[in-house]
Amino acid sequence: MSLIEKVSAHADEFISWRRQIHAHPELGFKEFETTRFIMEKLKSWGIDARPNGDKTGVIGTLKGGKPGTKTVALRCDIDALPMQEKTGLEFASQTDGVCHACGHDLHTATLLGTAYMLSQHYRDQLAGTVRFIFQPAEETLGGSVSMIENGALDGVDCILGAHTWPDVEGGCIGIRKGPAMGSNDSFHITVHGKGGHAAHPHRAIDPVVIGAHIVTQLQTIVSRRVAPVDSAVVTVGHLTAGKAFNVIPDECLLEGSVRSLDPTVRKNLAEWIKSIAVHTAEGMGATAEVEYEFGVPPTVSVDEYVDAVSDVVCELLGPDKLKNLPTPSMGSEDFAYYLEKVPGAFFRLGTGDERPESHIGLHNPKHLFSEKAIPTGVITFVGAAYKLTGSDLTALK
Ligand code: NI
Repeated sequence: MSLIEKVSAHADEFISWRRQIHAHPELGFKEFETTRFIMEKLKSWGIDARPNGDKTGVIGTLKGGKPGTKTVALRCDIDALPMQEKTGLEFASQTDGVCHACGHDLHTATLLGTAYMLSQHYRDQLAGTVRFIFQPAEETLGGSVSMIENGALDGVDCILGAHTWPDVEGGCIGIRKGPAMGSNDSFHITVHGKGGHAAHPHRAIDPVVIGAHIVTQLQTIVSRRVAPVDSAVVTVGHLTAGKAFNVIPDECLLEGSVRSLDPTVRKNLAEWIKSIAVHTAEGMGATAEVEYEFGVPPTVSVDEYVDAVSDVVCELLGPDKLKNLPTPSMGSEDFAYYLEKVPGAFFRLGTGDERPESHIGLHNPKHLFSEKAIPTGVITFVGAAYKLTGSDLTALK
């Protein structure tokens, strides 16, 4: 039997794991039952599985039956979102106010299915080692750092990660070279003016007008400073000043989110935002304090690993199942932290189907996912693990 036939025979079981995890979602760093579920499964298959230090999450290691020098890491995230599910599915969340609206339940089932296939059917022919990273707390963007601190990447040569994607049809894999996801940074600007009576503005320094100027000036960064062929987002999402209509306040606070796909653009954005805030305030007689927080870097796939995944999809699933993603997403992924340490690629598990609810968008409580993504993802991960460890792919055919 080929890998496709074997995975098809087990697909219902993999999907049942997804539904069980879906019915019992847990928030970041609180995935206790999910962690227990994963740990039990991996151990029952003879995989060396250990906890993520004192945090939730599991690190599994499988040595192949043939000698090999390469270690390939495969990563999924296991956490849910603080939302009330509204899908009406029979296996909908049984936990009030928590649901898997980003598809991390499908990711977990996919990586479990991969671990099952590799350990129970394809261990003998595997030359090298596969590391399984079941990571907590992706939504709050801290989980991958904890995994790295706890040794998830020790001895690892390269890493692959995947995420559901409604724009790609279920049963297909989406991928692109270069940037896959944006960085996620933030700024907090406090304009210090001088409060006073609304009727006597000349005796005050009005931070509201200055704050409004800064908001407008910040719009020129994307339109006038970033090169037209580069991408960036500067969004002011929070603006507060004063409490009364007839009082000029002392201060105005602006907060915003900054996204980009390129490390140089990212660095420039920080400098330009600081400069505009400080100098606009200074030019209007006030001062501005800027706190800039660098969060998650951009997720950038390395060509060689994109090629490896693409080749495997074409060979094992067929060229019609490979979709070239035309653009990156300006959303962010803490998978980027792994890619800062080892090379690899990030790809998409297509989850769109004929139901309109499968196209609403991730993080929507009504969103539905095509479960075809699970067997497709298992085949891709198993094939890529074989290819990147240098194992013989004919064993899968
Ligand atoms: Ni997600």
